[in-house]
Amino acid sequence: MKVGIPKETVSGEGRVATTPDIVKRLCAKGFEVCVERGAGRKAAYANAAYTEAGATMVDAATALAADVVLMVRAPDSKQIAALTEGAVLLALLDPWGGGEGFKALAKQGISAFALELIPRISRAQSMDALSSQSNIAGYRAVIEASARYARFFPMMMTAAGAARPAKVIVLGAGVAGLQAIATARRLGAEVESFDVRPEVKEQIESLGAKFIELDIGESASGEGGYAKELSEEAKERQQQALTEYLGTANIVVSTALIPGRPAPVLITEDALKGMAEGTVVVDMAAANGGNCPLTKADKVSTKHSVTLVGYTNFPSMVAGDASAFYGRNLFNLLNLMVEEVEEEGDASEAGLKFKDFSEDEVTAASLVTHKGEVLFPPKKA
Ligand code: NAI
Repeated sequence: MKVGIPKETVSGEGRVATTPDIVKRLCAKGFEVCVERGAGRKAAYANAAYTEAGATMVDAATALAADVVLMVRAPDSKQIAALTEGAVLLALLDPWGGGEGFKALAKQGISAFALELIPRISRAQSMDALSSQSNIAGYRAVIEASARYARFFPMMMTAAGAARPAKVIVLGAGVAGLQAIATARRLGAEVESFDVRPEVKEQIESLGAKFIELDIGESASGEGGYAKELSEEAKERQQQALTEYLGTANIVVSTALIPGRPAPVLITEDALKGMAEGTVVVDMAAANGGNCPLTKADKVSTKHSVTLVGYTNFPSMVAGDASAFYGRNLFNLLNLMVEEVEEEGDASEAGLKFKDFSEDEVTAASLVTHKGEVLFPPKKA
């Protein structure tokens, strides 16, 4: 069975779906691996490293014609047209925004898996690409904030004077938020954090940060560690309570998310007006409307003397490790999808074969196109 890794075509994408380490593991499992020349260059993986690991370097068409195609982002229409009918595609396919692409993939006869839909269950943790990438994004968001802040993060006592530690407020303490807290703490900042799921208080405190107690009248704990949407009344209460609180921050890293919904508004224009000159807000939800409606996706802007950072692809700024983590997620998923067939008389029948994708909860939940049909969003029973 052939695995192909094409070069990513989405603008600004630096990651690659497979690293040389993963190539070794794929070859050991019995796959033949072909990588498009230059696919790993932006993530600092050279062609020679892939070849040494056992891959063949090929052109785009050959990589896309494989039985299994591994990508970071969704293929463009030209790439989709080059996929082989019956092939399997694993990628971050943006299921909540990927309508047209899904129709094209179904038409091409592709079994496409959206990594975003891997359920958050213990058994699937090693395949959870959203978490592996959010973790990296939380780290990189804080590095970005520190580079754009005109002062130190840690307390400094020097012969030339002393500096107070920065105060960082992290909104939303899920995967990205907890890593942002940990990173800001490692840099020596004082950190406070708020989340609508009260159960994360302990996790926030275990990282040496303070949990912000806001009385918004309800908890929003949902399934699988995700939040539910708040009532209109609670949303308003939260915005008001936060507006006052955010004025005390030097840095705000905002990560609040409800899956499949526009980002909740936590930072209003009034909150920006109340912030001190030079405050830096990194709005990680910028791709989804922003936790601050004034954030511009993929831009850095200034509003009321506050720097608003709206980058939507922080993992790509740590492309080497982000690719390594993502590649491992893909390998683990692929491993679950295939089984080894013993040779019984006819030697050509032996080798790796796909299992029935509907039989495992992980593959069933993430399969978005199959046998000419679009399966996402699932039809209501
Ligand atoms: P997550 O679901 O693990 O965490 C989100 C947290 O927000 C949850 O703990 C939830 O309880 C909390 N939350 C929801 N509504 C809230 C509210 N009204 N107030 C306070 N907290 C609230 O999600 P994850 O993986 O940590 O991602 C966080 C955000 O970062 C998402 O918007 C995601 O799209 C974004 N992201 C951005 C990247 C970038 O490069 N900009 C890269 C990766 C993720």
